[in-house]
Amino acid sequence: MDPGPTFRELLDLLIRWTHVIAGIMWIGNSLLFNWLDRVLTRDETRYPESFGKTWLLHSGAFYEVEKTLLPPGKLPSPLHWFMFQNLTTWVSGIALLVLVYYMGDAAYMLDPNVARIDPATAIAIGVGTLVGGWLIYDLLWRSPLGQNGPLAFAISMALLVGLSYGLSQLLSGRAAYMHVGAMLGTLMTGNVWFYIVPSQRALVAATRAGQPQDPALSQRAKLRSIHNNYMTFPVIFIMISNHYPSTYGSSLGWLILSVLMLSSALVRHGMNSRFTWKQWLPWTIGAGVAGAALAFVLMLRPWAAPSTVAAPVPFSEVQAIVERRCVSCHAEQPTDPLFNAPPGGVVLTSPEQLRRYAEQIHTQVVVSQAMPLANRTGMTDEERARIAAWLAAGAPTE
Ligand code: HEC
Repeated sequence: MDPGPTFRELLDLLIRWTHVIAGIMWIGNSLLFNWLDRVLTRDETRYPESFGKTWLLHSGAFYEVEKTLLPPGKLPSPLHWFMFQNLTTWVSGIALLVLVYYMGDAAYMLDPNVARIDPATAIAIGVGTLVGGWLIYDLLWRSPLGQNGPLAFAISMALLVGLSYGLSQLLSGRAAYMHVGAMLGTLMTGNVWFYIVPSQRALVAATRAGQPQDPALSQRAKLRSIHNNYMTFPVIFIMISNHYPSTYGSSLGWLILSVLMLSSALVRHGMNSRFTWKQWLPWTIGAGVAGAALAFVLMLRPWAAPSTVAAPVPFSEVQAIVERRCVSCHAEQPTDPLFNAPPGGVVLTSPEQLRRYAEQIHTQVVVSQAMPLANRTGMTDEERARIAAWLAAGAPTE
């Protein structure tokens, strides 16, 4: 038995577990602090340079929170920083990207129906996206264009849509989505370590030295922090998107991704506006419902020509196709060296199993064509059409 896949699976579990916990802590803090900024009031503030304060009720007691700059020369202790949750999330995320997408022949990166590229090229495209994405984003917002907020925002969105489209022409839909997400996560991490943390260090140093802080530094940090805030919902969508093959697997996957990124950022905008139902409701519900409705239509593609109904396909032929194209992975004992156990727990060796998984087979083989993985078994379009016809006839097993 090859220990490779099992070891990879255990490592995947441990890293993903860490990644999700760190991500919850990081994004949770980010949402909490942004929420705090909105609910501060000027009543009974204690400090001359106060932004406001508020009271919280949690775990059976009251918390008093005031946001303020401090008089020169005095630093409170202990002073809590929040930056290692971000670092842990990013480092574990990159580790997962390598483990899931780059190792194992980069099988999840490739889709021969999209482009015939080799694993090394696919990995180079992936890494290039992360590094290049940061360089271009940072340069744009540092340049004079970055002074014009709406224009720089429009350019950023156009680049993001262009990237989603470009990657969808090179990588499997799932890898294209994940690289857009990993790129956004990298931008957020770059913002934390190159802008937000240095500005906080400068604030601490200035306070300690009894000097005023350079306001330009903290303005730039605030801008990058706002960018991060708007990226949270799109990134979280992408991180869970690989459970939804009708999104990344669609031929319009890049457009569905763009719609959901933009609408979820608008939902975030609704939640950022002052927390009154009058302002929050229309934005959030409007952007959320419109984005979801548009994505739904794009996923269904009602304008696409209905597949021509083929002659009935005997079940024995379906079994033969599955035997040829699927069971190297989907068997109790897979023979594909990438797997030691049936992926997703899906075994396709008996008629009952084929019936039971009929709906998922439709999603994976007909709609998204995500299966067979990277088409490692060389399934033909003709075979897909035969499976589709069998499913359309109600997946009879005799
Ligand atoms: C090279 C290995 C490989 C081959 C060949 C393969 N699959 Fe898969 N299959 C996978 C992997 C890996 C997953 C788990 C995907 C994931 O992580 O979401 C999977 C998941 C699935 C799922 C479950 C999806 C869900 O809803 O969770 C179905 C159904 C499926 N495959 C059907 C098929 C069919 C039908 C074929 C043959 C046409 C096939 N697969 C061929 C590797 C393979």
